Amino acid sequence: MHPMLNIAVRAARAAGKILVKNFDQGSPVEAESKGLNDWVTDMDKAAEQAIINTIKKSYPDHGIIAEESGTQAGKENDFQWVIDPLDGTTNYMRGIPHFCISIALLHKGSVQQAVVYDPMREELFTATRGAGAQLNGRRLRISPKVELKGAILATGFPFKMKNRLPEYLEMFSKLFEHCADVRRAGAAALDLAYVAAARHDAFWEMGLKPWDMLAGELLVREAGGIVSDFQGGHNYIQSGNIAAGAPKALKQMLAQIR
Ligand code: IPD
Ligand code: CA
Ligand code: CA
Ligand code: CA
Repeated sequence: MHPMLNIAVRAARAAGKILVKNFDQGSPVEAESKGLNDWVTDMDKAAEQAIINTIKKSYPDHGIIAEESGTQAGKENDFQWVIDPLDGTTNYMRGIPHFCISIALLHKGSVQQAVVYDPMREELFTATRGAGAQLNGRRLRISPKVELKGAILATGFPFKMKNRLPEYLEMFSKLFEHCADVRRAGAAALDLAYVAAARHDAFWEMGLKPWDMLAGELLVREAGGIVSDFQGGHNYIQSGNIAAGAPKALKQMLAQIR
């Protein structure tokens, strides 16, 4: 394993330990509001701190961009770590055991190493640019699906931007009409990891942030899939509108929503 990926895995496992230990399936966890339907719990913050501490121990000069603490020192460094300490906060708060940690390492703006870790199921998705994607060490391959017909898609709803609901519903109805079924599990990084693992044939969501997408993007690409914005272009990190999947199925999907 690449030494930088190794540190990312160590950091994700440290965060996972905290999240699992404090996970409560019985009663909802307390949370602070960051905006409309947007929450942060003490565990998002504790997990993030554990990740940052682990990275800083090995790479004190690297840049860090983390969801809850923002951009830290090291902005000029060629290496930037982009961290979502708890993807699926709403699930976590409600005792739904579907959430993950997402860590991407960028070099000069391109993702080199990626980890998406589901600590409840102990599923570790990893990728190194040019060296493939793995789940617990087993090589991942994108779904062989070539058309939308019969496809299982995943999505996220625009719950923080209800003004975009009409646009979203139009996409949803076009895609739902042509595919087999759609999942909305509530953790975008895991949705992307599941595309890499061929559990989903494709995924789309609008309004995501870089830390939701960057690790999953490399997983999908290294498994042989395609990642794009809704026009088939490269503008997904800036726009937050992302589509990912098996190449031919994704092409049919984009033809419906563009
Ligand atoms: C959210 C989850 C969710 C997606 C949201 C994200 P968070 O991330 O990935 O599935 O629909 O758009 O913000 O806030 O739980 O890390
Ligand atoms: Ca959040
Ligand atoms: Ca997230
Ligand atoms: Ca988060």
